[in-house]
Amino acid sequence: MSTQSDIKRLTAPDIRARKGGDPIVCLTSYHAHTARLVDKYCDVILVGDSLGMVMHGFETTVPVTLDMMILQGHAVMRGSQRALVVVDMPFGSYEQSKEQAFASCARVLKETLCGAVKLEGGRRMAETIAFLVERGVPVMGHVGLTPQSINTIGSFRAQGREEDDWAPIEADAKAVADAGAFSVVVEAVAEPLGRRITEQVAIPTIGIGASPACDGQILVLEDMLGLSPRVPKFVKRYGQLGPGIEAAISDYAKEVRARAFPGPEHTYPMRSKGR
Ligand code: KIV
Repeated sequence: MSTQSDIKRLTAPDIRARKGGDPIVCLTSYHAHTARLVDKYCDVILVGDSLGMVMHGFETTVPVTLDMMILQGHAVMRGSQRALVVVDMPFGSYEQSKEQAFASCARVLKETLCGAVKLEGGRRMAETIAFLVERGVPVMGHVGLTPQSINTIGSFRAQGREEDDWAPIEADAKAVADAGAFSVVVEAVAEPLGRRITEQVAIPTIGIGASPACDGQILVLEDMLGLSPRVPKFVKRYGQLGPGIEAAISDYAKEVRARAFPGPEHTYPMRSKGR
């Protein structure tokens, strides 16, 4: 008897084949619990390095480490069965050389069992992406606003809002596609540029603050659930969980203080003798 699950997980080639087809639905997740819910509806789960800001309260994604990504990547794999799980490569784990990138990506694939990695950067990362793909590492690119470069770009501002600024961003997307990435995240760019990149590159574009014309869309789960205190303009809040969670915690605190919780139904009586 096989011990393997009958449910077939989506692969990077499955996602690559969706260019120009039905929109690819993606969300982030960092835990087994939320992965279980996201897995029911999404094609791709990204274990984003946004976890540094969302889970750990950092101002940027720069402090995130490879160990943090591996721990949460493994949790998401345990919580999901069907979606392709993509783990973000954190700042400092892949930029130094192709060899450094391969060693870090190999750790991520082996220790989380995820199906692909994502890394930021266009033309400057093309050689590395080709090196990784040739050696069996499926890569999702990330162009436009690249949050790991915050210390050189200065702010999380949308890119390409003047037509004169389009050429380098288009060149980045094409370089990532030509290098063999199976898809590319296009973050915070002017809508016509997001549309144009989608028309021009052969791989699926996954938009976040880009264009409805992209081949797929992604949001940070906590942002769209209304749990994040501040969100960028491109986030639509599909839920308002923050106030609901706060109300539950406040009720719990009141009941504990009033000794109303735990009630008899939440405690264990003694077993009766003779049973
Ligand atoms: O880290 C992340 O969550 C991401 C998405 C916003 C695309 O890179």
